[in-house]
Amino acid sequence: MNDIYNNITAVYGDAPPEEPARQLYFIEKCRSIVEKEEKRLGRKLKKCVCTFGCQMNAHDSEKIEGMLEEMGFADSKSEENADFIIYNTCCVRENAENKVYGNLGMLKHLKKSNPELKIALCGCMMQQESVINTIKEKYSYVDLVFGTHNLYKLPELLFSCLSTGKNTFEILQEHGKIVEDLPSVRHFRYKASVNIMYGCDNFCSYCIVPYVRGRERSRRPEDILNEIKALADDGVLEVCLLGQNVNSYGKGLDCDINFAKLLRMVNDIPKIRRIRFMTSHPKDLSDELIFAMRDCEKVCPHIHLPFQAGNNDILKKMNRKYTKEDYIALTDKLKSHIPEIAITTDIMVGFPGEYDVEDTLDIIRRVRFSGAFTFIYSKRTGTPAAVMENQVEPAVVKKNFNRVLETLNPIIYEINKEKTGKTYKVLAEDYSDHDPGLLTGRLEDNTLIHFKGSGNSIGKITNVKVTDCKTFYVLGEEEV
Ligand code: 5AD
Ligand code: SF4
Repeated sequence: MNDIYNNITAVYGDAPPEEPARQLYFIEKCRSIVEKEEKRLGRKLKKCVCTFGCQMNAHDSEKIEGMLEEMGFADSKSEENADFIIYNTCCVRENAENKVYGNLGMLKHLKKSNPELKIALCGCMMQQESVINTIKEKYSYVDLVFGTHNLYKLPELLFSCLSTGKNTFEILQEHGKIVEDLPSVRHFRYKASVNIMYGCDNFCSYCIVPYVRGRERSRRPEDILNEIKALADDGVLEVCLLGQNVNSYGKGLDCDINFAKLLRMVNDIPKIRRIRFMTSHPKDLSDELIFAMRDCEKVCPHIHLPFQAGNNDILKKMNRKYTKEDYIALTDKLKSHIPEIAITTDIMVGFPGEYDVEDTLDIIRRVRFSGAFTFIYSKRTGTPAAVMENQVEPAVVKKNFNRVLETLNPIIYEINKEKTGKTYKVLAEDYSDHDPGLLTGRLEDNTLIHFKGSGNSIGKITNVKVTDCKTFYVLGEEEV
């Protein structure tokens, strides 16, 4: 796609050219528009940020919310009461896209009853030309659209939209610079996500991500470390280092760094107590990284290691660059160096030509996963798999998908059951959403726990005895 969707023509004479100063300037400009509107209406303006998709998007939404908050927008829990609605979209699977279109249809009514309402779309879906065309044709009431490569420009784009009253579209084909130090909020007080790299170069044949998130690029280690130190000073105990493929962190930087070295550096930050990361690609998981995980006492004994499918022909057609035997050997190696490690994974069912899932079931039984995200293959236009022969009938896919769940879930349950009666260190995050009489948190191996405990323990790492288990979480009691 050419950058033909760039309709930002205004030149703002006094705006600084360099970032982040430029966006901070536009935040102020937007703030004065917001203040004027507030005076006119006699109330605060409210924003509603809706996130679809992965943890990367959830973290991007923290940045979006941070910038909007600086402009003076208050929070609206629902779309109905908002003056500005933004959907941060996902396109990894078709149903994520359909949800966005469905919701957009409903927003049309809101816009009718409140013509002042501004609607914005951003994120992965917007990087596709066909989506932009659909929005222009069918959803012309959308005011602002931008993509993954210019999220940092939200203040400038929103200012253009608010000051001209015109629809504003800017989708860039290529990523530009990584812009640091823009405002952000945190969805959790004691844990935070930190991007260490953006994009993906793996081109798995079913996956749209490399096309919509661009080539791999790593943040500089000093920027990452400074961000984590500031988070630690602000009370954060646990960080999750985020990237589509963290194991190839550092490629292309002009300093001697890789992911294993970065982990060791983060491990040295005094007030940080726990380090997590995701996602790892099996083909890039080096011995050096396994040793860093083993040696760094703050790195949690958990790895999210998607295997997708077990059959070697399918793995080859997926362009995953490992075999079933490689994957099992790798997980054996992880277990031998880090015996308490919990391994979680992503599994996809129904890739073209995958008529049975025997090898997938074999991996599940042999590796014994503590958790898994399971997906039905979704055809993504523009990927090599979309034009492969042997697309599998939905009924066969459904049957195979159920077999995967029937094999997987009892194992996850058994692993949780083995924890019953034992005591674990838990970071108490908050009161439970489901039962405010309980606290909620995670064991070091990432198992979710709801437990009876003192509210004073929130924000602390505390000992909790597991008393009961379900498939997707365990229950417990704090030990005093
Ligand atoms: N269909 C279904 N699942 C997909 N994923 C990526 N692309 C597709 C697709 N076309 C899954 C993979 C990946 C996770 C983030 O999403 O399992 O690991
Ligand atoms: Fe997609 Fe593969 Fe990259 Fe993961 S590693 S984002 S599945 S292309």
